[in-house]
Formats: sequence, structure tokens, C-alpha cells
Amino acid sequence: MSGSDRNLTWHAGEVSASDRARALGHGAATVWLTGLSGSGKSTLCRRVERTLVERGVGAYVLDGDNVRMGLNADLGFGAKDREENIRRIGEVAKLMTDAGLVVLTAFISPFRADRARVRSIVPAGQFLEVHVATSIDECERRDPKGLYAKARRGEIRDFTGIDSPYEPPDAPELVVGHDGVSADVNAARIVEMLEIRGIVP
Ligand code: PPS
Repeated sequence: MSGSDRNLTWHAGEVSASDRARALGHGAATVWLTGLSGSGKSTLCRRVERTLVERGVGAYVLDGDNVRMGLNADLGFGAKDREENIRRIGEVAKLMTDAGLVVLTAFISPFRADRARVRSIVPAGQFLEVHVATSIDECERRDPKGLYAKARRGEIRDFTGIDSPYEPPDAPELVVGHDGVSADVNAARIVEMLEIRGIVP
């Protein structure tokens, strides 16, 4: 149903994106990390966030486990719930980007269509998809939360990469996470991407 069918009217703000960027001294973006559990998404987001905030850039991490403990506490890991998880986070990331922040998101976001939907609602050039392409073997070797072991024992169902699919991006803005490359190097590549695109000074 459209907004007018529900008697809703979109109210545009008086502050443009460029007014906001001029006042804040930097641009805004949604940096969308996608990858398997244990691939290093959260670590990378936190490292980039620290670097940016220390430079005076407004940056904030939205993280899978944290969002699922609050906003999305009602959602599980079936395909429909994962779709709704990413839809809601996409809307939040869009608002935070509109507010002038560099939003760093750390969600498995396993389905291409769900990521494409988020891309379609964030203004062109401000959705930057980063594939954290750590192999499943390496993720399972790390198993920081012991979840792969539980999934292998059948104690967790629908675990991404084991009995639930992961669809890698076809054309991400950046690929990081190759086995053997340090988190610091990968974080620096994300910051460099933001510099090259003129989002952060
Ligand atoms: S999704 O697929 O994008 O909706 O998932 P996300 O919101 O990123 O949540 C992933 C974290 O939830 C924990 N967890 C699981 N992951 C995958 N499959 C199943 N079945 C599952 N159950 C719990 C796990 O801690 C994930 O965190 P990360 O940081 O990715 O390891």
C-alpha cells in the first residue's frame, strides 16, 4: 500500500545533505559488511569506527547480535525473519546516513535480494557493500562463539554456511577478509575506500 493510500505525507527536511556535510566536515554513507558468522565483520566495523571517530568523523556500528537483542528481538533465523531483520536494519541505516553519519553494519545478510533492497533505499553512491570473504573453513576454524561446533552437532538449526545458504555479492564496492590478511590491513582498506570516494577527509 502506498503512503497516500494510508493518508501519509512525506515531510522533507529543511537541511540538505550537502548543508549537513558542510557543517559536519564529512560526508555520510552506509558501509554494509556482509559475510559468514566468524568472518570478522564486527571486529572490522569496530576498528574502522575507532579510526573515524578519532578523526572527528561521526561513525556508528550496527551489529548483528546487539540489534537482535533489542530492535529485532522478535526475529529468528528462518529465511523470512532474516529478510525482515535486514529490512528493518536497512531502514535504520538509511535514517542514520540521512543524519550525516558513517554507518558501519555487521550483519551476515546472506541473501542478495535483501542487500539489493537496502541499496535501493539509500541514496546513490552512499551504499557501499563490503564482502568480508573469509572462507568457511577459516570461519569454522576460528569459531569464536562455538556456534559452528553446535551447528555440526545439530544443536543449532539454519546455521549460515552449514544448513542455511550464503549468497556472496556479485559486485561489491570492496572485498576484504582474504585468509592471512590482518584485521588492521582490512580496516585500513575500508577507510581508504571512504577517503577515495570523498566521504571522509
Ligand atoms: S542475518 O542472517 O543477517 O539475519 O544474521 P545476523 O542478524 O547478522 O545475526 C548473526 C549472528 O547471530 C548469531 N547466530 C546465528 N548466525 C547464523 N545462523 C544462525 N542460525 C545463528 N544463530 C545465532 C551469531 O552470533 C551471528 O553473529 P556473527 O557476528 O555473524 O558471528
